[in-house]
Amino acid sequence: MSENAEDKAVRIPAQSDGTEEKSAGTATLNKDAAPGEVLLKVTGLQKHFPIKKGLLQRQVGAVRAVDGLDFEVRSGETLGVVGESGCGKSTMGRLITRLLEPTAGTIEFEGKDITHLGVGGMRPMRRDVQMIFQDPYSSLNPRHTIGTIVGAPFRLQGVEPEGGIKKEVQRLLSVVGLNPEHYNRYPHEFSGGQRQRIGIARALALKPKLVVADEPVSALDVSIQAQVVNLMDDLQEELGLTYVIIAHDLSVVRHVSDRIAVMYLGKIVELADRDSLYKAPMHPYTKALMSAVPIPDPKRKNAKSERILLKGDVPSPISPPSGCRFHTRCWKATEICRSTEPQLLELKPGQRVACHHPENFEDQAPQDTVLLTAAKEAAELVADEVLAESAETSAAVAAELAEETAEPAAEEAAVASAEEAGTEAEAAEEPAEEPSVETTEASAEETSEASAEASETESQESTDK
Ligand SMILES: Nc1ncnc2c1ncn2[C@@H]1O[C@H](COP(=O)(O)OP(=O)(O)OP(=O)(O)O)[C@@H](O)[C@H]1O
Ligand code: SF4
Ligand SMILES: [Mg+2]
Repeated sequence: MSENAEDKAVRIPAQSDGTEEKSAGTATLNKDAAPGEVLLKVTGLQKHFPIKKGLLQRQVGAVRAVDGLDFEVRSGETLGVVGESGCGKSTMGRLITRLLEPTAGTIEFEGKDITHLGVGGMRPMRRDVQMIFQDPYSSLNPRHTIGTIVGAPFRLQGVEPEGGIKKEVQRLLSVVGLNPEHYNRYPHEFSGGQRQRIGIARALALKPKLVVADEPVSALDVSIQAQVVNLMDDLQEELGLTYVIIAHDLSVVRHVSDRIAVMYLGKIVELADRDSLYKAPMHPYTKALMSAVPIPDPKRKNAKSERILLKGDVPSPISPPSGCRFHTRCWKATEICRSTEPQLLELKPGQRVACHHPENFEDQAPQDTVLLTAAKEAAELVADEVLAESAETSAAVAAELAEETAEPAAEEAAVASAEEAGTEAEAAEEPAEEPSVETTEASAEETSEASAEASETESQESTDK
C-alpha cells in the first residue's frame, strides 16, 4: 500500500471487511494503485486446451484458444475486449481471474506474479479480482437464496463485515438497486436484469480492485442492458473500480470503454484508446468490425454506410493460418502476410497494431492504401481460393481427429491389455481435466474456490437465514 493511501481512498458507505482500517459507520476502499498505474500486466499469455484421444488419452493436438497476449490494464480504466465468437475472449477473462491455469506467459497483479498461484496463494487475490458472468441464469445457484449468494464471498474469505453479513448483504442489494427485503428470495423469483444485479452485488462484496465482466449484458433485453451498463458505470465512479469488459456488441464496448483490445483467433490484433479505434482503426479486421456498427448520428442517417462483409468463418484455432491469422479473410493480404506473423507494434501513440499493411497510416506505401469501396470489390475477387484452402485444411484436421477418435486404434488395442497396469498408473498421474465452461459458471458463486469451501457455504445457509 502506498504511503499516501489515505489520500487516494474512496469513501463508500458503511462497508468493512473487518481487517482493514475502519471508521465509525464508514469504511474506505483503498486504491493502492493511483489512477493510470498498471494494475494488471499480461505477457505472452497462452492457453492451449489439449485434444486427447484413445485409451491412453494421448494428446493429438490443442485448441489454441489464447495464443500469446500482451497487454496491461491501468487502475481506474475500463478495457473493452471485442472479437468474433470463439476468438478466446472468455478464456482470456478466465485466465486473468485465474479460473483457468495458463499454458504459458505471465500475469502480474499490482506487480506481483500471480501466474501459477494455487488456491491458497490466490485466496487474498480473490478479494481484489472478481468476475461477472454472462448468463445470470446459470451463474446463480437456484438452491440458494440471494442472501446466501451475495454473502458467500464473506464466508469463503472468512470476513466479518461491520454489522454482520446480513446487514452488509442488504446494503449491497440496495447499492445495485434491489430491494434489501428480498434477501430471502430465490433466483427464479427475479428477472434477468435483476439477476445480473445480484451477480454484480456478489462481485462487489469484497471491494475488488479489478472486475472482469464477461458479456455482462448480452443475455438481457436491450431495454435492460442500458440500465445494467449505467449501474456498472456509476459503481466504477463511486468505488474506483477497474473493469475489463468482454463483449461482442461494439456499441456496448464503445459506450463503456476507455481503451479497446480487438481479438482475432487467440491474439490481440489492435489495442487503442476508444476514440482512435473508432475514428481511425488501423487493423483491417477492426475496420471490418467497425463498418458493421450502425451510425447513431441522426445527421448522418442518410450517409451511405460502407459495410465490409468478411467472407467465411473464423478459421479453426486448432490449426490457425500461417503468418497473419487474418490473411484468409483479409482483402489486403500479400505474400508477407501469409509467411510472417506481424507483431503488435505501437504505430501511433497509444495505438498498437499487428498488421503489415495497416489502414490510416501515413507511412504506408501508397499502393497499400485500399479504399473501402475498393476493399469490398477486392474481397469478392481475392478471398475465395484462399478461403477454400483454409476450409480444406480445417476439414482435413477435423476428419483426421474424428477418424482417430472413432477408431479403436488397432495398435493401442493390441497393447492395451499388456499395458493395463501401466495405463492406470499413468492415468493417476494425469493432471485433472480442465473444468468445462459450464462447470465453472455453475460454481461461479464460489468464485472457483475449492469445493470444500462450497460445502461450508451450504452448511452455513440455514444459520444465515
Ligand atoms: N474447456 C475447453 N476445452 C476445450 N476447448 C475450449 C474450452 N473452452 C474454450 N475452448 C475453445 O477455445 C476457443 C475460444 O473459446 P472462448 O470461449 O474463449 O471464445 P469467446 O471469444 O469467448 O467466444 P464467445 O463470443 O462465443 O463467447 C473456442 O474454440 C472454444 O471452443
Ligand atoms: S498483415 Fe496482411 S493479412 Fe494481416 S491484416 Fe494486415 S494486411 Fe491483412
Ligand atoms: Mg465468451
